[in-house]
Amino acid sequence: MKSEYVDKFNHDEDAPGYDQDVLNEAHPIRAGYSELLNWVAAKVEMHKPGRVLELGSGTGNLTLRLPQVEALTCVDISTEMQRIAQEKSPASTHITYVKADILEVLDQLDKKFDAVISTYTIHHLTAAEKQLFFAKMESSLAPRGIAVFGDLMFENQENKTAYLEQCRRSGQEELAEDIEDEFFWDVELALDKLQVLGLQASAKQFSELSWGIVAHKHA
Ligand SMILES: C[S@@+](CC[C@H](N)C(=O)[O-])C[C@H]1O[C@@H](n2cnc3c(N)ncnc32)[C@H](O)[C@@H]1O
Repeated sequence: MKSEYVDKFNHDEDAPGYDQDVLNEAHPIRAGYSELLNWVAAKVEMHKPGRVLELGSGTGNLTLRLPQVEALTCVDISTEMQRIAQEKSPASTHITYVKADILEVLDQLDKKFDAVISTYTIHHLTAAEKQLFFAKMESSLAPRGIAVFGDLMFENQENKTAYLEQCRRSGQEELAEDIEDEFFWDVELALDKLQVLGLQASAKQFSELSWGIVAHKHA
């Protein structure tokens, strides 16, 4: 089953300007971008996985920060984002690029992964889809596997409501609308759901809107 908004959030049109856009960390949505990608890559490096699945790999900004692994599968729905990613790492024979929906692809890949990682992509899934995603992701993880996410999140619904109110009070209507147009994670809810699936999960905040979540699967 494909995610509901996969066509809307296909970044083909944003691809040419994307790498320039993420450099603007003065913008609240971009604040913490680089540090968070580095944190995800460092978690992967520490875990030393053989097979890694990267979901929503975009122009390869996380891919390029990763340590050498045995096999890396990069999934994205955007042909243009993937074209740029491939241009940026032309000699990487251990990387397989798959053009697919991140929710659907988890039913199609026949192997288990030692690490499933993703930055700034899962917030394109609705709350219900995230729950489904967590379950499918857990099934795709090998024993002792690790999942590492960096994304746009609020600690809980109260924090989201307060942030949106503060945006509107301070005249940042466009930012409020951008936030409401997507499905930022609820950190507390996500940790709960991951723990119910048997994963040991924890979160770390990088900026007002950017958080990292790491989840370990038992042996
Ligand atoms: C904001 S970009 C993040 C790219 C990269 N991970 C990064 O951190 O810079 C989101 C990426 O996810 C892709 N995407 C969005 N929804 C998707 C979906 N349902 N399935 C596959 N890819 C999706 C977009 O095409 C885009 O490349």
